[in-house]
Amino acid sequence: MKVSYIAIVIGLAVQSALAVPKFQPRRTSILINPDAQPDLPSPQNARLAGVTPANAGLNLNDIQGDILIGMKKKKELFFFFSIDDAATFKSKLSSDIKSLITNTNQLLSVSTQPITAVNIAFSQAGLTALGVSDNLGDNGFKNGQFADAANLGDAGTTNWVSGFAGTKIHGVFLLASDTVDNVDNELANLQNILGSSISEIHRVAGAARPGNQEGHEHFGFMDGISQPAVQGFTQNVLNGQATVAPGELLVGETGDSLQSSRPSWTTGGSFLVFRQLQQMVPEFNKYVANHALSVPGLTAQENEDLFGARLIGRWKSGAPIDLAPLRDDVDLANDNTRNNNFTFNHPEVPGFVFASNQTDCPFSAHIRKTRPRADLGSENTGHHIMRAGIPYGPEVTDAEASAQQSSTDPTLERGLAFVAYQSNIANGFEFMQEAWVNNANFIFGKSTPPGVDPIIGRVAGSAAETPRDISGTDPLTPTKKFSLDVEFVVSRGGEYFFSPPISALSGVLSA
Ligand code: HEM
Ligand SMILES: *[C@@H]1O[C@H](CO)[C@@H](O)[C@H](O)[C@H]1NC(C)=O
Ligand SMILES: *[C@@H]1O[C@H](CO)[C@@H](O)[C@H](O)[C@H]1NC(C)=O
Repeated sequence: MKVSYIAIVIGLAVQSALAVPKFQPRRTSILINPDAQPDLPSPQNARLAGVTPANAGLNLNDIQGDILIGMKKKKELFFFFSIDDAATFKSKLSSDIKSLITNTNQLLSVSTQPITAVNIAFSQAGLTALGVSDNLGDNGFKNGQFADAANLGDAGTTNWVSGFAGTKIHGVFLLASDTVDNVDNELANLQNILGSSISEIHRVAGAARPGNQEGHEHFGFMDGISQPAVQGFTQNVLNGQATVAPGELLVGETGDSLQSSRPSWTTGGSFLVFRQLQQMVPEFNKYVANHALSVPGLTAQENEDLFGARLIGRWKSGAPIDLAPLRDDVDLANDNTRNNNFTFNHPEVPGFVFASNQTDCPFSAHIRKTRPRADLGSENTGHHIMRAGIPYGPEVTDAEASAQQSSTDPTLERGLAFVAYQSNIANGFEFMQEAWVNNANFIFGKSTPPGVDPIIGRVAGSAAETPRDISGTDPLTPTKKFSLDVEFVVSRGGEYFFSPPISALSGVLSA
């Protein structure tokens, strides 16, 4: 009697332990997968790509998961913190936090994804707070983004979120899942572990937009279509996709020009540029409606949509205007064997003059300013980034839409939580923003100077609200200038971080 009672109790205990497994396998992915965006590599493909002898050696178990995956999260919270008690923080970092950090392999299939993916990155001030004095070899990172605001063309820093002003942010947690509840639970867990060793400076809650807008940024355009293929990671390179050496994105890997001088513990890490870019969506829509083109054969709505598409270089669906110059083409948008298969040049068109013809795509279009393709002769420009941002903030309210004006209610702020990874900020984000986007003469050698990027370009040193001139947007009169008297995107600041290899969390970073 007694014995079997004990057996039953033990049996129940075993059963209940089994009923609440420590690791609950996922059924739905953390990631979105719109047709227009490149698919994630399968674990099998990532393995195959990794065995190519020339590129062997990417340790996908050590590289944090966000870096090579791109803009595909359903929900993502950026939690910016300062380190107030370095000794406690370091001990928790290696004993508890490290095991929660999600690597690249884990994200590749739903069954290995955690409930909430966690990544961590540190600013230079954060490394200093941890007593790490190694020079990572990146000046932008070293000085921080606040010191870089003027170079980036920001209209001063009065629009900056106060937390980003200065160097008080030491690190950021990136928490990604399919629900806000999961994200919040994981944040509570991290805060519980770290206690008063950290304090919150700022947070940005991102989410894929609802319904059929999933994958689209707040102006309505599909995002995340053109991302570099990474040697040693991407097996199936799409037509028109740039292929980069792993070291263009990852510190210390093949192709990182500073490979030999990087501290050895940084191998497989990446510099993370964060920018909180507010989007003035009703103002953008109003501007586009007021500047509808008058291309014969198009309806008024089509002429309005065409103007918007020519600012970006893609239709809202994601179809590239270089291949669909007059009307949107959803089939083209959703076919990723075709939606990057263009160069802006058209040798197949008799008499096409590359230096002057912007009938299909303006020289100033956002995707042309940020990736000039054949304009630079060859693709390998050395200025690629992996974009991994996500929209933040609510949808436009009816009141804002009818007023054609963004609310000043801070809870209605919306935009892009912009994230870019690269091994060298000066060659990646800074170069793109300063030498291309903000340079009114770039793309060089064209018949008409294009002006700044209409979406994110600002002439450095110009006062806020200074009209920004662009050209090429009207295909009937490409030399016609548009004076953009509205800043559609307002920089709210950001910071430069280093996303270390996971092994460093129990090594140098917690020593
Ligand atoms: C709120 C601000 C921004 C918006 C609304 C925006 C929107 C877009 C959209 C709709 C695309 C087309 C989708 C694609 O080709 O993947 C795109 C592509 C791109 N954007 Fe942005 N973007 C913003 C900020 C930035 C910034 C700050 C940079 C870097 C300085 C940047 C760099 C790029 C690059 C490199 C591409 C891909 C170009 C290509 O490879 O063809 N974007 N962006
Ligand atoms: C890609 O573009 C090239 C050159 O224009 C063309 O020959 C080829 O058919 C295109 N591929 C696809 C899948 O559309
Ligand atoms: C520019 O190129 C388009 C096709 O890409 C062509 O139809 C047009 O005639 C060209 N314009 C000029 C002025 O040559």
